[in-house]
Amino acid sequence: MLEEKRKKAFQGGGEERIKKQHEKGKLTARERIEKLLDPGTFMEIGMFAQSRATEFGMDKKRYLGDGVVTGYGTINGRLVFVYAQDFTVLGGSLGETHAEKICRIMDLAMENGAPVIGLNDSGGARIQEGVDSLKGYGEIFFRNTIASGVIPQISVIMGPCAGGAVYSPAIMDFVIMVDKTAHMFITGPQVIKAVTGEEIDFESLGGAMVHNQRSGNAHLIARNDEEALNLVKILLSYIPSNNMEDPPEIPANDPPDRMDYSLDTVVPQDPKRAYDVRDVITRVMDKGTFFELHPYFAPNIVIGFARLNGKSVGIVANQPKVLAGALDINASDKAARFVRFCDAFNIPIITFMDVPGYLPGVSQEHGGIIRHGAKLLYAYSEATVPKITVILRKAYGGSYIAMGSKHLRADVVYGWPTAEIAVMGPEGAVNIVFRKEISAAENPEKRRMELVKEYRDKFANPYVAASRLYVDEVIYPHETRPRLIQALNMLENKKEERPMKKHGNIPL
Ligand code: HXC
Repeated sequence: MLEEKRKKAFQGGGEERIKKQHEKGKLTARERIEKLLDPGTFMEIGMFAQSRATEFGMDKKRYLGDGVVTGYGTINGRLVFVYAQDFTVLGGSLGETHAEKICRIMDLAMENGAPVIGLNDSGGARIQEGVDSLKGYGEIFFRNTIASGVIPQISVIMGPCAGGAVYSPAIMDFVIMVDKTAHMFITGPQVIKAVTGEEIDFESLGGAMVHNQRSGNAHLIARNDEEALNLVKILLSYIPSNNMEDPPEIPANDPPDRMDYSLDTVVPQDPKRAYDVRDVITRVMDKGTFFELHPYFAPNIVIGFARLNGKSVGIVANQPKVLAGALDINASDKAARFVRFCDAFNIPIITFMDVPGYLPGVSQEHGGIIRHGAKLLYAYSEATVPKITVILRKAYGGSYIAMGSKHLRADVVYGWPTAEIAVMGPEGAVNIVFRKEISAAENPEKRRMELVKEYRDKFANPYVAASRLYVDEVIYPHETRPRLIQALNMLENKKEERPMKKHGNIPL
């Protein structure tokens, strides 16, 4: 009897539907779990759970497991809780029991301090179950929120994720989407057409690249299910299982005192010329450990995890190659959320600064750059994990303050000799301060150039800031790796208190 029942549960929605699932290039819920967890470690919970709905013929549609496979197992030996929606059962739709199973997994994850991984492939609220399925979503959202900052929550979108169902992934820490098969939207193409008249297909509306690049809802894109599941494993390798633990340490195969002299020439002599900040990051971090997140969204700022002498760190870096590295609405949102994740999970933050300012423009102003930009200031100020900042080149105005400056309590600030810490760049400053003098000069352009040079010599360097201790040390670029590692070691037991409060009120 048990064996038969198990067999039945393993069949999900039946052979025909499993075939359809495969034809779409998708694995089944169970196959996904198998590929995600260490072999043989999956322990299922609730295999025989069933819906108790009776309306709309639901009494004749009883499936063991109710369209979601839930349980626990290990990834690289570490405990994780997982749920995988089974699209072959009623389109993976979420009814009362289905939701209860997910909630059970989340409760266990919280009680045992282990990450939750959700594999989403669902048509959304099970229409036949009405308010019970809405209640189910509400219960999940509540748990997502309470778990935020306590255990890591990773969502992999491997099929449809529509309507209110999108809000569980949105509250979770990281969202990975599979190209072509994953779609996320609040209202689908038909509803949009009916309401606004806009015509759009699923892919252009809510495909993986759209959310990776335009909306920023997703952090990573994978070519297929396997790749997506592999990304989960990589991601987990950098983060602790809960907020009381430190991230896993992996012995480094890169000497801590390694100096990379090619760093001395990465930043071009001409301050107007761009370079790829990832060339700095990869040369400084342990070889091959930089794992970029959100690479397609707001590429004017780079975020990701890496390791320094085996220790996990979060990286935030302006990208001079895109929009000259200026901070805009999306870059502020992207970096602020990442800083908060690192702070919640005891991951030190390394900031590489080369920022000319906030991006000018009416759309930025009207879009709320004030409100969004404030998030970054808030996130850095709030963070009490070790914070180390390296000023590579430009550090102008408010954006200098925002990018992990000493004033927002960076623990250690290094400046490269090319660092320019000032209210603004030489050209802009001279045009404002000496406007009258320049226009009155016999040769205005010559005078302007002289003043620019004077300003550059006086202000466009790290030494004024160093004289005030806003920069702790001016270092050669090639020294960056050993300096960062020493500073991280020094900060190993850092404790910084903040006043007790219910919670702050981050500008959202
Ligand atoms: C019940 C559902 C379902 C749902 C799909 N199915 N979605 N059953 N409730 N929400 C069933 C179908 O009836 C079908 O059953 C089977 O799943 C497979 O669906 P297909 O339509 O054949 O698959 P496909 O062509 O791949 O299309 C997938 C889909 C489509 C795009 C997801 O099914 C769809 O549009 N579903 C409805 C999506 C939706 O509007 N959901 C509600 C969103 S509102 P049979 O037996 O015929 O094979 C929401 C509110 C949440 O979620 C609020 C939270 C706050």
